[in-house]
Amino acid sequence: MTLRSVVRGVGAYLPEKIVTNAELAKTVDTTDEWIVERSGIKKRHIAADGQKTSDLAIAAVTKALAHAGMDGKDIDLFVVATATPDQTFPATAARVQAALGRPGVPSFDIQAVCSGFVYALAVADNFIKAGQAKTAVVVGAEIFSRILDWTDRTTCVLFGDGAGAVVLAAEEGKGETSDRGVLSTHLHSDGRHHDMLYVDGGPSTTQTTGHVRMKGKEVFRHAVVNLADAVTEALAANKVSISDIDWLVPHQANKRILDSTAHKLGLDPAKVIVTVDQHANTSAASIPLALAAGVDDGRIKSGDLVILEAMGGGFTWGSALVRM
Ligand code: UT7
Repeated sequence: MTLRSVVRGVGAYLPEKIVTNAELAKTVDTTDEWIVERSGIKKRHIAADGQKTSDLAIAAVTKALAHAGMDGKDIDLFVVATATPDQTFPATAARVQAALGRPGVPSFDIQAVCSGFVYALAVADNFIKAGQAKTAVVVGAEIFSRILDWTDRTTCVLFGDGAGAVVLAAEEGKGETSDRGVLSTHLHSDGRHHDMLYVDGGPSTTQTTGHVRMKGKEVFRHAVVNLADAVTEALAANKVSISDIDWLVPHQANKRILDSTAHKLGLDPAKVIVTVDQHANTSAASIPLALAAGVDDGRIKSGDLVILEAMGGGFTWGSALVRM
C-alpha cells in the first residue's frame, strides 16, 4: 500500500477589476495587437486598493474547501506559494491558517516564484506520504501588480493578480498509476540564471520591495526546454506515455510557450488547459487557476491523468503527475 495525496477540492479567486489590453494601452506604450500576438494575453485582473495576497488566498481556499465538502478545521497543513506576500514576515500562510484553520497546525510560505505551486504541492505531498499530515491546503496566490514597473512595457503587460487552491487528503493507493492522487513530483533549480528574471529589491539588499525585471527572450528559450524535460521526466518515472495524458495544466506565462511545449512533447493542443488569455501570468497562482477552470467547466474529470508543469525565476522548474 502507498499513501497518496488525493485532490478533494479545487478553488479559484480573481479580483473583480479587469484591465483589458486596450485599457492598458492608454497609459503604457503598447497595443492590444502586440500583447495578443507575442503572449496570447487579452486581459488581467488587478487587486483592489487594500486587498492583500492573503485575502485572495483565503477566497480561493474557501471555495476549494466547499468543493471538497470540508471545513478549515479538518486541515492539518497550510502551504502558500507566493512571491508577493502580505509582509516580509510572518508568512501569508499564517494569515490563511488563522482565517480558516484550527490554531496549532503548521503553516508556511514557499518561494519559487512561478514554479511555487508545483514546489508547494511537492512539499505537501511529502508531508502526507511521511504521515505528518492527513490533509493539506496548497495555495498559489499573487498580487504581481504591486511589484510591476508600470513604465516598463516589456514586463508590466504580462502579469496579473489571482489565487487558486487545492485541498489534499491522504488515501491508501496500490502504488500503481491507476491510483488517484499525486503520483510523482519533480523539482529543479539553477541559480546561475538568477539575473534572467528577478525583483530588483529586497530586505537584505535595498530594503525596498523592488520591481520585476526580465530578459524575456532568454527566459522563453529556457522555458520551452525545461518544461518539456520536466514533463518527460514525470512520464518516464511513472512509465506512462504522452498519449496517456488527459490534460496538461501548465503555468500560464505565454500562449506561445504553451504551444511550443505541447508541440515538443507531441501532445494534442486540445489537451492543454489555457487560461493565460483571461488573467495573464499570475505566477504561483496560475496552475491552480487553470486546474480550477478545467474542473469547473467539466473538462477535467475524476480519474483523469493530469500533468502540471511550471518554470520561473531562480530559475526554478518542475512537474507533477496527478490522477484526479
Ligand atoms: O512566468 C515566468 C516565465 N516568464 C516567461 O515565460 C516569459 C517569457 N518570455 C516571453 O513571454 C516573451 O519573450 C515576451 C512576451 C516577454 C516578449 O516577446 P518576444 O517575442 O521575445 O519580444 P522581444 O522581447 O524580442 O521584443 C520584440 C520587440 C522589441 O522591439 P524592437 O527592439 O524589435 O524594436 C520590443 O521593444 O517588441 C518590443 N516590445 C513591445 N512592443 C509593444 C516589448 N514589449 C512591448 C510591448 N508593446 N508591451
